[in-house]
Amino acid sequence: MTMRTQVGIVGSGPSGLLLSQILHKAGIESVILERRSRDYVEGRIRAGVIEQGAVDLLTSAGVGERMASQGLVHEGFDIALNGERTRVDLAGLTGGKTVTVYGQTEITKDLINARLDAGGTIIFEAGDVRPEGFEGASPVLSFTQDGARQELHCDFIAGCDGYHGVCRASFPDGEIRSFERVYPFAWLGVLVEAPPPSHELIYCRDTRGFALFSMRSTEVSRSYLQCAPDEDLNEWPDDRVFEELQRRLGDSATVAAGNVLEKSVTPMRSFVAEPLRYGRLFLAGDAGHIVPPTGAKGLNLAASDIYYLSNGLIDYYRNGNEGLLDTYSATALDRVWKAQRFSYYMTTLLHNTGGDGFDDKIKLAELRYTLGSESALESLAENYVGLPY
Ligand code: FAD
Ligand code: PHB
Repeated sequence: MTMRTQVGIVGSGPSGLLLSQILHKAGIESVILERRSRDYVEGRIRAGVIEQGAVDLLTSAGVGERMASQGLVHEGFDIALNGERTRVDLAGLTGGKTVTVYGQTEITKDLINARLDAGGTIIFEAGDVRPEGFEGASPVLSFTQDGARQELHCDFIAGCDGYHGVCRASFPDGEIRSFERVYPFAWLGVLVEAPPPSHELIYCRDTRGFALFSMRSTEVSRSYLQCAPDEDLNEWPDDRVFEELQRRLGDSATVAAGNVLEKSVTPMRSFVAEPLRYGRLFLAGDAGHIVPPTGAKGLNLAASDIYYLSNGLIDYYRNGNEGLLDTYSATALDRVWKAQRFSYYMTTLLHNTGGDGFDDKIKLAELRYTLGSESALESLAENYVGLPY
């Protein structure tokens, strides 16, 4: 069977769904091909901190209603150094800017509902998706649905298929370059039916390793512990996780135990592919870049990519201009590299990085300097709330 649309989108994570929704609002058709099932996509526990720019973009795309009523607006967070907490007053340091705590699972559900309610097409469990013909004017996405091979013809392909997707891998040899840093640690994350220890996030640097206390609501906490990349979850029964979280937090607040809804290990990587375009194939979000989660930037970068890419596609369809599509890769990468810098900074600042001890001493000095310096805190806050689009 052959189908036709204007923009063929691979992946129904936040990038692909948001692009499809913004294009729909502008009267441009798209079809999303997603490898996994709807339940799987909606259940994947990931990001939690949303910058104002991403909140505004989701709101203008018509999916901000539930986020406005259920999201938690945070005006600051704490950094704890060996149990001693200092507040980073985001609003005070940035002239009133804030972040919103609202789970990626909820953003995904809101976007899927909006697309399907408007009659949009998301093909879940699309197998063996192959981007073809994008070096010329007639791209095609071939895929398998219910055992039969199908073709989706389109004007452009948006590769929104994450780090392990097929789109980046489809660039011709020599047409893409990767920059990468793999960290020698990972995060053990737990989602728990219990209130978080504080109403704001706490990032902890401790001699036992990093810990982060976040939340999904006032009743559900999301916490992380620095661990080994090959950490065996079987060695982490719930009691041990709660004990270790309390040790790294210190005695300024209490970690409440509760029913553990999810437990997983997330590897830490910085990765950027350049450029984000070949012919009529564009990469956005994790398909083009990965950040370690310490700066809470992954989902927010997906949103800024989609802002630039959707502007380019809208200008093309409305006015016949290709200028913004031509500059998409450079414009998006400029913001991506600044967020990479910040994520690397936050990661190395707050984790025990091992080595001969020199780097750790330097980072400890940098953290002490930052916590005691108004101008250093201003810079940290400016980046945390998100650089302008
Ligand atoms: P994804 O969300 O990865 O979506 C890509 C979609 O493409 C998926 O649905 C996938 O199934 C689909 N797909 C892949 N290959 C194919 C194919 N061949 N054909 C069809 N479909 C395909 N960020 C934060 O800010 N804070 C966090 O705490 C945080 N935690 C994270 C934890 C984990 C385990 C991971 C992996 C990421 C985390 N991130 C976090 C990053 C954030 O979740 C991502 O930046 C965000 O999901 C990027 O959205 P995306 O749509 O670009 O990619
Ligand atoms: C989360 O709530 O999952 C979260 C919050 C802040 C981060 C990373 C993850 O920096």
